Amino acid sequence: MNRDKANELDQLDPLAYARDYFALPTHGIYLCGHSLGAMPANAPEHLASVTRDQWGKNAISAWNNADWINMPQRLGRKMAKILGANAHEVIISDSTSINLFKLIVSALSLRPDRHVILTEKENFPADLYMADGITQLLSKYQVIRCEKTEIANHLNNDVALLMLTHVDYRSSEMHDMAALTAEAHHHGALVLFDLAHSVGAVPLSLNECQVDFAVGSGYKYLNGGPGAPAFLFVAERHLSSTTSPLQGWMGHQQPFAFSNHYEPATDIKKFLCGTPPILSMAALENSIDIVSSIDIHAVKEKTDQLAELMIELMALKCPSMTCISPKAAKERGGHLGFFHQDAYAISRALLDHGVIADFRAPNLIRFGLPALYLRYVDIYDTVATVSKIINTNIYHHPRYHAVMTVT
Ligand SMILES: Cc1ncc(COP(=O)(O)O)c(C=O)c1O
Repeated sequence: MNRDKANELDQLDPLAYARDYFALPTHGIYLCGHSLGAMPANAPEHLASVTRDQWGKNAISAWNNADWINMPQRLGRKMAKILGANAHEVIISDSTSINLFKLIVSALSLRPDRHVILTEKENFPADLYMADGITQLLSKYQVIRCEKTEIANHLNNDVALLMLTHVDYRSSEMHDMAALTAEAHHHGALVLFDLAHSVGAVPLSLNECQVDFAVGSGYKYLNGGPGAPAFLFVAERHLSSTTSPLQGWMGHQQPFAFSNHYEPATDIKKFLCGTPPILSMAALENSIDIVSSIDIHAVKEKTDQLAELMIELMALKCPSMTCISPKAAKERGGHLGFFHQDAYAISRALLDHGVIADFRAPNLIRFGLPALYLRYVDIYDTVATVSKIINTNIYHHPRYHAVMTVT
């Protein structure tokens, strides 16, 4: 493989056109789409029009005449297609963390005679914090954290909920959603998947897999913008028997009746809490429209090819970078993780040399490979830059060791 060959792959890429949908950072190759997706090129104009024509011209009337009030459901219906869910099972609201709280508590209420939330040790910390916090509020429950490989062995009659992140935020390892859900159901447990690192990166079929609950972010591969609202999914069979523990007025059957008594909506709307952030919703809707217009199977196929190119070139040119992601493409999500004992300094030096990747403690560099806007030549140039930084020892410079607040 050489740079010309990488360019040739880009010429042949059936998804090459999608790069024009994005305004990419000007200071480097953008490999952080797994963390904060790139901005859709039309986002400024779209937001300007919502701001000017809806907020500016209509102010409060826009809740009705621009249908702001129904945005959480409207976007939820669009998201449902991406998730392999029914339109009425998905809604956009709050953050992934808040949605986790709502759905963990709801799930537990469906298994009152059980007391365990089973999860894995390496789950995303926010998910672990949230589950632990719930056990502090509801002292009957206990969180059991086990090794990834031991999940099936820990399923038994005590487990109310199996809570997993589908694609591992460090290694990119992807759980077998169908198999684990079937195993959990076999033991009478419910299943909640965090899809933060999956949605927009890999094909999803929540209903085919019989998943009970799911949450996920709008700002990673969905490119909905910093702090974009999140989504939640409740399988139809649980919709009538669950309610949100956060009895916000937007989840009320008739919020504008201003009743002193809480009467939850009967549909997925009951999982709303407070007033939706309309400008953020507008940015997210614009980006969901882009993502859902592109075949996710083609996206995953290109991601796999980008990943394989990076793994091959890295092994050749940067042998001190150890790939910790699964070798088999079908077991990976949309990013790769590489171990190096000086990962932090290397990631900082990369930033100075035109490669934007991120660092995860204690010694991992993550490279996000969003197929919508990344080229094969970007992979080639990235590995060449990593190789230069390692071989010239530039990363030993003290300026690359000062720790930044956000990594
Ligand atoms: C897997 C996973 N779950 C949950 C979260 C928390 O999301 P939020 O901060 O939007 O609540 C993140 C954030 O990156 C994440 O990666």
